[in-house]
Amino acid sequence: MEIQGNTRLIGLIGNPVEHTLSPVIHNGISKAVGIDSVYMPMKVTEQGLSKAIDGAYELNILGLNVTVPHKNAVMNQLVEIDDAALAIGAVNTLVRLEEKHGYKGYNTDMLGLRRQIIEDGIVLKNQVVVILGAGGAAKAVAYMCLLEEAKKVYILNRTIEKAQDIADTLDKKSDNNTEFIPLPLSDYTHIEEENLIVFQSTSIGLAPHTDEVVIEDAAFYKKVVVGVDLIYNPANTKFMQLVEQYGGKAYNALKMLLYQAVIAYELWHDIKIPQDVIDDIYVALKRKVYPKKNIVLVGYMGSGKTTFGTALAKELGMEFVDADAYIVSKTGKSIPDIFAQDGEEAFRKIETDILKEFNETLSDTVLATGGGMPLRKENARLLKEIGTVLYLMASPKEIYDRVKGDTNRPLLQCENPYQKICDMIKQRHPIYSQCADEIVDTNCNDLQWIVSVMKEKGMNGE
Ligand code: ATR
Repeated sequence: MEIQGNTRLIGLIGNPVEHTLSPVIHNGISKAVGIDSVYMPMKVTEQGLSKAIDGAYELNILGLNVTVPHKNAVMNQLVEIDDAALAIGAVNTLVRLEEKHGYKGYNTDMLGLRRQIIEDGIVLKNQVVVILGAGGAAKAVAYMCLLEEAKKVYILNRTIEKAQDIADTLDKKSDNNTEFIPLPLSDYTHIEEENLIVFQSTSIGLAPHTDEVVIEDAAFYKKVVVGVDLIYNPANTKFMQLVEQYGGKAYNALKMLLYQAVIAYELWHDIKIPQDVIDDIYVALKRKVYPKKNIVLVGYMGSGKTTFGTALAKELGMEFVDADAYIVSKTGKSIPDIFAQDGEEAFRKIETDILKEFNETLSDTVLATGGGMPLRKENARLLKEIGTVLYLMASPKEIYDRVKGDTNRPLLQCENPYQKICDMIKQRHPIYSQCADEIVDTNCNDLQWIVSVMKEKGMNGE
């Protein structure tokens, strides 16, 4: 990223800010859409907040995110506040208003969660919702329930006064469409309805206390159809496990983190970010939050994925899995047979299903992929989620020499296989390059040398 005279500054203020994931999202978006702005975390103390906001305006900062401990206090420093943020009592995004010489506050946490549930097909209208917790996050959830016209919202909290406060504030705004009912946490047994949609918004279950949950009772979970945990680390909280164990669908809120940032970015830059860019950024975010120790090999047939991959796995003491061999064992058909009987599209679909499975199950593994695997964008994203992706690259001539005698390659059963290899590599090289973290040249055919390069690049990958 090249900083120039007209580069705009965006950023985050809070204390602490060191562990924020927001730069991955915002700087990733800027790079992908070609906008010249840079996102920077900035530590601001409570005493320094007012000066920081004045200073930010004078420094021509385009927009800011606000995190703990300033989400409430910052509201006194703004020239305007969005209605939802005002009702929630928390602002996490400041948008520069040139004409008013200051910033307008928004709550994109709530908007982000709303976008997540819409994307995940969770409908709140006329439904009974249970919110566990009554802190800042719970307020945003409660307001979203009001916007989405839930029928009834139980707010359960250890400290009942806080639940009561949220219910009182939102009752006044709801025109009686949505009823808010505060309850002490232990009174969850008083809820008589079934088919509950539950939002877990307490801090219980957050890593490293991953075996904790505010309610353990199976009788409660039997009534839950959807559970959303506002915690995203760990990826699968105890709450989510219980929801699934008793037949409900469970989600964490990593997408909320993604979308609160996307919406803030859209407000700052007055643009709509394409979904394709958002999907790529989501993969980058998952890689950061849930890093995996796998190495994924992509490249054209004959580039050495099996040969060098097996040797690399041995060198690193990792498992080796060949995706094509796995497909053959799983379907009971050879790959030429799948191509001949079901067609290439059916084969690519099988690949996607297998990659989803690998994404859940593989660890400490070198995965060799089929040559066409990254052609589907969805597959390319899955490969990146599975591990560090290395593109094993070889020239058409070298590849031809390696595979010319192999009759088990359906794509090469043609009159002029060398020309076909040239054409296909020309088409696929940009796709492999884009999918990969690193490129490894295998033309020299020196096994030891190539494995050492793969090892270095595989361990250093993003
Ligand atoms: P956030 O802004 O992320 O919502 P918060 O405002 O500190 O964070 O809220 C934390 C929530 O977790 C509160 O609902 C809190 O309950 P209290 O209001 O009674 O403090 C809840 N919480 C934290 N520790 C808890 C515990 N051990 N048992 C039950 N609830 C707990």
